[in-house]
Amino acid sequence: MMRDVPPTGDGGEKGGEMRDATRDKVTAPQVRAAKGGPKLRMITAYDAPSARVSDEAGADIILVGDSLANVVLGRATTLTVTMDDMVHHTRAVTGTRPAALVVGDMPWLSYHVSVEEAVRNAGRLIQEGGAEAVKLEGGRKRLPVIEAVLDAEIPVMGHVGLTPQSVNAMGGYRVQGKEVEAARSLLADARALDAAGVFAIVLEGVPDVLAELITKEVGAPTIGIGAGAKVDGQVLVFHDLLGLTGERVPKFVRQYADLHGTAVDAVTRFFEDVQKGDFPAEAETYHMPEAVARALLSE
Ligand code: KIV
Repeated sequence: MMRDVPPTGDGGEKGGEMRDATRDKVTAPQVRAAKGGPKLRMITAYDAPSARVSDEAGADIILVGDSLANVVLGRATTLTVTMDDMVHHTRAVTGTRPAALVVGDMPWLSYHVSVEEAVRNAGRLIQEGGAEAVKLEGGRKRLPVIEAVLDAEIPVMGHVGLTPQSVNAMGGYRVQGKEVEAARSLLADARALDAAGVFAIVLEGVPDVLAELITKEVGAPTIGIGAGAKVDGQVLVFHDLLGLTGERVPKFVRQYADLHGTAVDAVTRFFEDVQKGDFPAEAETYHMPEAVARALLSE
């Protein structure tokens, strides 16, 4: 893209990207220690613009979620997202050098085949993507993988409750832990992840009473999405909270803007201006010296 204005940045920083020097980089141990403090602010991002918006707004944690599949790639489920997709988008986010901790989401099948493959794939999100931690879905079943990834010095964020990668096994996107036994099982999962040493646990799509109980029972901060208010932090999908999808959003989403509507309106006005001949105006046009123009046109 051609620009009149030079890019911002003093050139002295690696990657040329300016970062808000007033904010120190957030680390995984800091997040783990944040339990009981102010609520943690987490949001998803998938590219440089969404990362910059999120970081400027004060995010503690940016998750490059596999919800990439739904909100960016237009897929029905997260199951088709690959490691290459996740590395590509994680690199776009980390290239902006955010102060927020960047967590790369491990896509389906990247940690289900073998522990060795899981460690290598987690390592790709760090080494190639530039993330500082990874997230993976599941409870006790995933402990061997979680332990091995932690053993490779990679901080892990857990994710229990409604785990979208299990959509086929769950028979749809359903709130989890609504029966006593199922709730007890989720509590046991969260306890096991906590004991293994995850630095935070996402609780998705669970009743508020269960989320509150888990939050009281584990040392790692809990971050809720559709889990009520009694958790240690909240996360929403960037496109959902900004109203960017132009589609229906789940009940737990609060939409703070209608950017889809704003964008459609802006593009419509651009097209109207084009058809009316109102775009571009004089100020939006490049010129050449008059003498050069005269010589050119007289040829
Ligand atoms: O992929 C994602 O966006 C997530 C959040 C919903 C936690 O896993």
